[in-house]
Amino acid sequence: MQFTVAIDGPAAAGKGTIARALAERFRLAVLDTGLLYRAVGARRLAGEDPVAAARALSPEDLTGNLRSNAVAEAASQVAAIPEVRAALLDFQRAFARREGGAILDGRDIGTVICPEAEVKLYVTASPEVRAERRWKELGGDYEAVLAEVIKRDRRDSERTEAPLRPAPDAHILDTSQMTIPEAVAEAARLVQARL
Ligand code: DC
Repeated sequence: MQFTVAIDGPAAAGKGTIARALAERFRLAVLDTGLLYRAVGARRLAGEDPVAAARALSPEDLTGNLRSNAVAEAASQVAAIPEVRAALLDFQRAFARREGGAILDGRDIGTVICPEAEVKLYVTASPEVRAERRWKELGGDYEAVLAEVIKRDRRDSERTEAPLRPAPDAHILDTSQMTIPEAVAEAARLVQARL
């Protein structure tokens, strides 16, 4: 069975949490595509050329601490480079169409990686709510976290290559006023309806 759930949306909207919960519930493989860009960003911070890093990416690169703000910022920068995106494309497409079904979360899954996905969700929330979630997770200064979230959203949405935007046929899930179980239940309902 090929069955793809594409989950896109801005940083800290709840994509990862929803993706993991759906993967467990429906027994689908899950890929956090942001990790690929974070791994390339981390290698760039270590002085490597990002295009070469993307072409040479291996599973070991996806372990380690990739959750920091510095890595997120570097990831968003390298993600605007067309050759970096091209180098990561085939792996993501193959994952999306793997036998048994898959869930991918990112920015361009429903628009570029897998426009034929059976279910497309665009998970979003207000910048303030997302910044508060990030701040609770990582600590630091709330205003600085909010400024970083807004800056990253802008870069991810305004780039020419695969910008962040909902696919025309995506279900929009605004989680600003939702608890995690509520958001997961709504997403699960949409997946169930297509299975
Ligand atoms: O989802 P995340 O915060 O881990 O993603 C980090 C950065 O990677 C994000 O700011 C933009 C980029 N990214 C992307 O361009 N395309 C994806 N499919 C996933 C992430």
